[in-house]
Amino acid sequence: MAPPLIAPSILAADFARLGDEVRAIDEAGADWIHIDVMDGHFVPNLSFGSPIIAAIRPVTSKPFDVHLMIAPVDPYLAAFAEAGADRLTVHPEAGPHLHRTLEAIRALGKSAGVALNPATPVSAIDHVLDVVDLVLVMSVNPGFGGQAFIPDAIDKVAAVKQAIGERDILIEVDGGVSPANAGALATAGANVLVAGSSIFDGNPAGSISRLREAASAQ
Ligand code: DX5
Ligand code: ZN
Repeated sequence: MAPPLIAPSILAADFARLGDEVRAIDEAGADWIHIDVMDGHFVPNLSFGSPIIAAIRPVTSKPFDVHLMIAPVDPYLAAFAEAGADRLTVHPEAGPHLHRTLEAIRALGKSAGVALNPATPVSAIDHVLDVVDLVLVMSVNPGFGGQAFIPDAIDKVAAVKQAIGERDILIEVDGGVSPANAGALATAGANVLVAGSSIFDGNPAGSISRLREAASAQ
């Protein structure tokens, strides 16, 4: 199995120097750029919206992995697609018709992801697996960077992998990811590791390679 991709979350970046920070993680070897959008309503924190994404789009050619923690989400999908998102991930709780939302993302030409909060069972996505490209397993409650990893996420990754079966769907893990848990997550079946605070620590290149090594040393 290929080692997991690394997707640094810019939520942990210095926002006063956002363009430089994105350039730095690109040069440090990030595979994707993870972008956390929060509305102060679906989650108890506000981050930024599509204009910020459009502003940093020229800085890198790496895929923009946009994690939408907003409700409602449907009215904003087109704006995020136009701003330069390559992948859009939504939470099942963010709207009444998850299947329609995922189809709308694909109709915009983007990869569709669905995110499972720590308390959301894997069964919540049983009936949308044929319209998703990625399942995001949250290993913290969404809203803030720098929280402690919830170990149950490791078994959940394995359960998602089993539910996916032969389908061509990536499993991503987000929240408290570090070299301490990257190996177990990779063994369980994670294909993409999101990390904020463990990468934006002043030495992104070193942190990304430590995470990569830990994820490969299964
Ligand atoms: C949490 C966000 C995460 C967060 C990860 O709601 O979805 O992407 O920024 O940050 P760390 O790696 O610091 O937990
Ligand atoms: Zn995220």
